[in-house]
Amino acid sequence: MTHTRAIIRSTGAYLPEKIMTNDDLAKIVDTSDEWISQRSGIKSRHIAADDQPTSDLALRAAKQALENAGLTAADIDGVIVATTTPDSTFPSVAVRVQSALGVPPGIAFDVQAVCSGFIYALSVANNFITAHQAKRILVIGAEKMSSIVDWEDRTTCVLFADGAGAVMLESSSDADADDQGIMSAHLHANGDHADILYTNGGPSTTGESGHIVMHGREVFKHAVTLMSDVVEEALSHNGLSASDVDFLVPHQANLRIIEGTAKKLKMSLDQVVITVDRHGNTSAASIPLALHEAVSDGRIQRGHTVLMEALGAGLTWGAVIAKF
Ligand code: ACO
Repeated sequence: MTHTRAIIRSTGAYLPEKIMTNDDLAKIVDTSDEWISQRSGIKSRHIAADDQPTSDLALRAAKQALENAGLTAADIDGVIVATTTPDSTFPSVAVRVQSALGVPPGIAFDVQAVCSGFIYALSVANNFITAHQAKRILVIGAEKMSSIVDWEDRTTCVLFADGAGAVMLESSSDADADDQGIMSAHLHANGDHADILYTNGGPSTTGESGHIVMHGREVFKHAVTLMSDVVEEALSHNGLSASDVDFLVPHQANLRIIEGTAKKLKMSLDQVVITVDRHGNTSAASIPLALHEAVSDGRIQRGHTVLMEALGAGLTWGAVIAKF
């Protein structure tokens, strides 16, 4: 029997022109290349222009995903954007992208699960497609984290950055569908940990978006355990072991967390896509950016089993396993 599966038809990405190195940051706050590299693995990051909103980053990544799929906006019936840094409180970044691309009226909305946002958005899009409510959805992760960091707080401003990545998710019901596409998605949240990573403002409290406040050690403590747990959950749900996975595409928050997760899963670092050294933590954009890089340079190929996982503020965490 053939089932409808959501397949990843193409990817796209966009990184702002401006590159900020650790040495550049050391001129702004009391930090050093050595501290940032050792603690996080980050060497440089991209920062959007002051007049460049998140929707601009999202639009550029979306255009590339469309082009790489050989499709036009008229072929799409949905846009879902994972972001925690929208242009404005409303309307969503998704409707701005929909309008700029000329996508016909269908579904368009944002998903806010911070660094897990792309995993949540991919899962939601997968549900729309497998429920036959949409055929092709652009799933985008886009962030201008530089707009919500306190540039005087060295504990956070050295970590976060800007960028966007996109995938074209498409319904496939042909005979091969069972061997392709999203196999399962696993989402979790625990609001008891809301106070270890948050912004100190918002529309209904201060009237401003606020800045990121992070108790890094607390987040770190949960990160490796929860991400390894959700990866195990995804593998066992599909009767797979880590050795069946060709590539792990983790959220890029910190190289030590990525290495810790890979070690727990007994995966070689050659099988892990790492961009945090050049991208920093781009929150919901980090996974689609990394996925696009590994697809573009030929590491991830058709037929490969790819496991994506993330943890972010909330806490929220999740994993998606897909046959590419
Ligand atoms: N440069 C130099 N020194 C610094 C800096 C800096 N940029 N930042 C902090 N320090 C100092 C601190 O003040 C502290 O000094 P003290 O010992 O004199 O008090 C010392 O360095 C150690 O600070 P810690 O915060 O304990 O450092 P730690 O080893 O925990 O590393 C880090 C910090 C990199 C943030 C780490 O905890 C981490 O990566 N946590 C996880 C973050 C994460 O995964 N976030 C993902 C979700 S993000 C999202 O959802 C939006």
